[in-house]
Amino acid sequence: MSPFQITRTLPEDATDAALRADVLAGLTATPKTLPPKWFYDAHGSELFERITTLPEYYPTRAEREILIDRSAEIAAATGARTLIELGSGSSEKTRYLIDALTSLRTYVPVDVSESALTQAGRALVAERPDLDVHALIADFTGTFTLPDTPGPRLVAFLGGTIGNLLPAERAAFLSSVRALLSPGDALLLGTDLVKDEQVLVRAYDDAAGVTAAFDKNVLTVINRELGADFDPAAFDHVAVWDAEHEWIEMRLRSRTAQSVKVPALDLAVDFTAGEEMRTEVSAKFREDGVRDELAAQGLKLTHWWTDREGRFALSLSTVR
Ligand code: AVJ
Repeated sequence: MSPFQITRTLPEDATDAALRADVLAGLTATPKTLPPKWFYDAHGSELFERITTLPEYYPTRAEREILIDRSAEIAAATGARTLIELGSGSSEKTRYLIDALTSLRTYVPVDVSESALTQAGRALVAERPDLDVHALIADFTGTFTLPDTPGPRLVAFLGGTIGNLLPAERAAFLSSVRALLSPGDALLLGTDLVKDEQVLVRAYDDAAGVTAAFDKNVLTVINRELGADFDPAAFDHVAVWDAEHEWIEMRLRSRTAQSVKVPALDLAVDFTAGEEMRTEVSAKFREDGVRDELAAQGLKLTHWWTDREGRFALSLSTVR
């Protein structure tokens, strides 16, 4: 058996049907919304990789610092023989974890992007021929079956991506993660933390305009996939801190009154001048909130590590 395998759990056209349903629901809602998962076509993924290197965007560096400092402790606490990474992308930061997990036999990266999985998987297998890499093409918010691999299992969900889910979606997601775990398994979760509003807003509205381009890329995706005629230049990128929900919202604000056609949905959508459409929520957390959300789904927080500036946290939890 080859040490690199890739399994498709999504039919080729599932993505298309999901995009149509999301765009139809979001553009006919009041206020209008679009879910953040559609940012990540090839160009959007490239823009996101650039965001992670921006001076204002601290989460990636903060999380990498924690992984460098704590991977040995994570290895000792879990003894993981299988690492499952949800939304693995480039698997860049995961390398610290993989290299520290001395009992690791199998790595299961799960991502919707086949190209990211193939690239990261092949590179890893070349360097670590001792490791079985069993990649899964799957949406981490959906249901999927894991390959039968040795325990203990460690499920990792890094980057603070759980913050892009709304509270009810987070509960459903954590419940499905809990269902993947047996006694002795663990969840490693990355969460960005509540901090000074200016620091947060700058992280989502950088001076070079990369985040603005990333935000507007969702319009380009809808134009290409659904034949729409969004003019990205007719929208402004906005990042606002919602103090009540403790999340950053990214929005696209229509510069003028305009009508946009979406032929694949047989839809025309009117925007008023200044109308704002929500494109992403990025929730920021506190330790108590994370502990409570985990506990509500039957998970017990056992470790809480932050970077030296206290900006970002990794938590480890186990089945209660
Ligand atoms: C996907 C969670 C890592 O919410 O910070 C970056 C996506 N959006 N800049 C985040 C994102 C705007 C990001 N994560």
